[in-house]
Amino acid sequence: MMKFKKLTGVTAIFLGGSLAFTSMIRADDHEEGESSQGGKSISDVMKAGFKGKESMVKRIIAGDEKDDEIKQLIELCLTLEKHEAPEGEAASWKEKTDALTKAAIYVYAERDGAREMLKTASNCKACHSDHKPD
Ligand code: HEC
Repeated sequence: MMKFKKLTGVTAIFLGGSLAFTSMIRADDHEEGESSQGGKSISDVMKAGFKGKESMVKRIIAGDEKDDEIKQLIELCLTLEKHEAPEGEAASWKEKTDALTKAAIYVYAERDGAREMLKTASNCKACHSDHKPD
């Protein structure tokens, strides 16, 4: 499992101790419940990064992203992680959102196979069937 620490202002992300980088990803000033980015909901995250054939996540998987979109996706994933699952097991939600964030960070870090990981982790149906309310 991935471990990462969030620091205010600059976020330092450590992946299993093997890879470290800092970026200007905005850290959250709030604790549980409230998210960063002016309180984006899960729906907001879905609309911003996941919805549609030309979504940000699909462009990134295809290697077709625009400037800064990988960082934006990491932020969206971190926002997802901060929310509780509206439905289903908390442990499953944590596992899925962790995998998603980790994959996005790996893409940012240009790790081999990262986009494939992101494709798996962003499986819409797998997450929706467990965690999306009807
Ligand atoms: C890690 C979990 C997860 C993944 C992966 C995921 N979703 Fe979602 N999605 C959710 C949850 C949870 C909701 C329900 C949010 C709510 O109702 O509060 C949702 C809702 C949505 C919505 C409705 C948004 C609205 O309120 O209008 C759309 C559209 C959507 N997802 C598209 C996608 C697509 C397309 C993909 C795959 C490319 C995807 N999602 C991947 C968790 C996920």
